[in-house]
This record gives sequence, C-alpha cells and structure tokens, in this order.
Amino acid sequence: MGQLKLSRESWSSQTVFILAAIGSAVGLGNLWKFPYITGENGGGAFVLVYLACILLIGLPVLLSELILGRAGQANPVQAMANLAKTHNATRLWWLLGLNGVLAGALILSFYSVIAGWAVAYFISSVQGDFINMAAEQAGVSFNAMLTNPWELLLWHTIVAVLTIMIVSKGIRSGIEKAINFMMPGLFLILLVLLGYATTTGSFEQSFAFLFNPDFSKLSWQAVLIAMGHAFFTLSIGMSAMMVYGSYLDNKQSIVKAGIWIAFADTLIALLAGLVIFSIVFANGLEPGAGPGLLFQTLPVAFGQMWGGWFFGTLFFALVIMAALSSAISLIEPALSWLQQNWGIARAKAAWSLGVIIWLLGIGTVLSFSNWENVYFLGERTLFDTLDFITTNIMLPLGGLLMSVFVAWVMSAELRDQQLQLSPLWLKLFLFDLKWIAPVAIMIVFASNLVESNS
Ligand code: PHE
Ligand code: NA
Repeated sequence: MGQLKLSRESWSSQTVFILAAIGSAVGLGNLWKFPYITGENGGGAFVLVYLACILLIGLPVLLSELILGRAGQANPVQAMANLAKTHNATRLWWLLGLNGVLAGALILSFYSVIAGWAVAYFISSVQGDFINMAAEQAGVSFNAMLTNPWELLLWHTIVAVLTIMIVSKGIRSGIEKAINFMMPGLFLILLVLLGYATTTGSFEQSFAFLFNPDFSKLSWQAVLIAMGHAFFTLSIGMSAMMVYGSYLDNKQSIVKAGIWIAFADTLIALLAGLVIFSIVFANGLEPGAGPGLLFQTLPVAFGQMWGGWFFGTLFFALVIMAALSSAISLIEPALSWLQQNWGIARAKAAWSLGVIIWLLGIGTVLSFSNWENVYFLGERTLFDTLDFITTNIMLPLGGLLMSVFVAWVMSAELRDQQLQLSPLWLKLFLFDLKWIAPVAIMIVFASNLVESNS
C-alpha cells in the first residue's frame, strides 16, 4: 500500500544493514561526548535520564525513522514529500527532510574537527608519546594541541578529505567490510581497558558516579542535554537512519535492527564511561573537564598498562574508523538529496559539500583558541553553539515530527506492515509514539524556555 517501488540498491543482508547502522550510531558520541557531558552534568541522575530517553524516546523514534525511510524509498527530502503525497498530507513535510540535511552538515563540521583529535592521538601513540605519561602531562599536551589552530586545521582537513573520498565512491563499497571487524575490535579493546580500570582502585567510585543518581544535581537544561544526546548517539532525528532504512528491503525486521542498534550503542557508551571515570578518580582529575576528557584520561591508561602501546594505537585507529563510519552517515542525507533532486553527480556533490563543511569546521577549530571568547548563543563559543542548536534543538525537533508522522499521519496498514509486531507490542509502541515520546520532548523544550527566561 502506497509503497513506491523504485529500483534501488539494498543492503546485502540484515546483518550487513545492522552493522552499518551500528557503524553510524557508534562513534564519537559514545566515546568522546557521552563521558564528558556526563561528567559536566554530575553523573548518575544524568545517566538515568539519558537511559530513559534512549528507551522511551530514542528507540521508538529510531523505529519510526527506519519505517519512514523504507516506506518513502528516496532521499529524506523526497521521501517525506512522497509520503506526504500518498497520505494526502501537507507538502510541507519535505522540510523535515531539509532539517536533516542541514543538521547533518552542521554536525559534520564539528564532528570532523573532533575526529581530527583522534588522528593526532593515533600518531602520538605510534610514536610512543604515552609511555609513562602522567595525568598532568596528558592535560598539558592536550591543551597544547587544542590551542594550536594550524595543527587542528590539518587534522580536520585529513578527516574531511577521508570522509569525502569514502562517500564519493558510493554507499556500499568498503564500508561494510571495515565495520565487520571494527565493532568487535572496539568492544574488545574497551573490555581490555575495563580490565585496566579495575586495577586503578577507583573502579567502584566510577561505577557509583555513573549509576548512583543524585537528583539534586539535575537541572532542566541537563535533561535537555541528556535527551539531545539520546538523539545524537543513536543518529536519529536528522534522517541518517532514514537513508539507511531506504536501502532496507521489505523482508528484513526493523524492530530487530532497532533493538540491536540501541543496545550496542548504549553498551559502548557505558563501557567508555566506566573506564574514563576510573582514570579520572584514580588520578584526581576533574569529571567536568569538558570536551578534552577522553583525550586527557586514556593516554594515562595506555601509558601504564601492559601492552599499552599496542592497545593505544589500535584504540585510536578504531576511534577514527568509528568516527568515519558515523561521518559518512552524517553527509549521506545531503548527498543523496543533491544527487536525486538536483541531478548533481555523486562525486561532484560530495566534494562541494566537503568544501562547505570544511570551511564551517574552521569555526570549531578556532573556538578552542582565537575565538575562545567569542560567544554566539548565550555564553557559547561557535562550537558550543553548533553543538547546541543541532543536538538539542534540530534533532529532537526532527524526531518529534517523525514520530508525529508515523503515529498520526501514516496509514495504519502501511505502518503495521512495516513493523510486524505482535498486537500487544504494537499497542505499547503506538501508545509511546503517540503520547509519551512527543509529549516528553515538548515538556523538555518548554521547561527550558521557562528556565532560561526566569
Ligand atoms: N551517532 C553518532 C555518534 O554517536 C553521531 C551521529 C549523529 C551520526 C547523527 C549520524 C547522525 O557518534
Ligand atoms: Na552513538
């Protein structure tokens, strides 16, 4: 019903699709961002809100987004236009696709800069810089890198060029194979690091920090950050998953895929958090150190532990790969739109987008040095502003509209056929999607408006 049949390439199997989607989800969001925002927002209570957001908002929005992609069978802008048309809804739904295109490009502009830090650290690790590194020195060398815009620009350029080179070749080639060993590899190294964390003497403190909620530390602003991060980390609300879903064939299970993605993503984030905070507490560091947290802690671990050179080098290589497999999904909505709707050749579209994103990224590079005190939104640097507008506004807004479309606009027949759920689960899912998820998102938005005006 209402399904457009275009002859489009699809994923070669369910496993390949799940791996690629996990590749999109697992990235800097888990390893770099989750630990540092958890540290800044006081730990346990923030983590609990985040987990609730994953389960009650993130998972249903993820499923909705995959449904929209598979039913819409096109790039996000066109997919929403197609679906609006077959449902006699307002054509304005295409703007939801456009929101995703823009959010993806804006996120990628800073994502590439941060991934660049991992490139720098990969090289440092190869050179043996971490051997016996003390925590204090790790902080000093991180800051030296951060305040050197030319160096950051170089790493940012390398990541941007790599990303464009990968995407300009097409959706399938290479990516699938790399992800096959990258995900298990990342998981194994995190287990090794977890083993190290238990020897620091601060593992229990780290565990308590993450899982003992202290609600007095929670503000509405922190709830917004937790909710935004649930979107960011699952790659939802900006139509990356819509694109991936559009390549999913009708036999494959969206629910199964969604659960795997959310589970794997959450597991990796929590592991990273446990490891990093063990190092933080063992060395008397500051949990709220900010965006440098990952880079100021792990070198200490690699410098001390057995096999540290090997594991450190491999770890940062895997971080780069995890970032690249997310980066390609950040650019894919814009790229497929330029290709399909504007008739621009893939490689040309990719390089043009690459230039725009690279230029924007310079703003993030400078946010840590020359423009450190140049504020845009409130007391936010350009990096913080881009991060806030995309993660905490554009993604939740996009997700809200996606859940509204699937819950209220889409024909029940098409929706249920996409989901293939048992009657009870379908009821629960729809109740969540119709009421809980959208209302929760609106409450968090509204309370932040009230809070910031009081
Ligand atoms: N989910 C990715 C991460 O956690 C980032 C991302 C966001 C990728 C949005 C695609 C779309 O690192
Ligand atoms: Na993630």
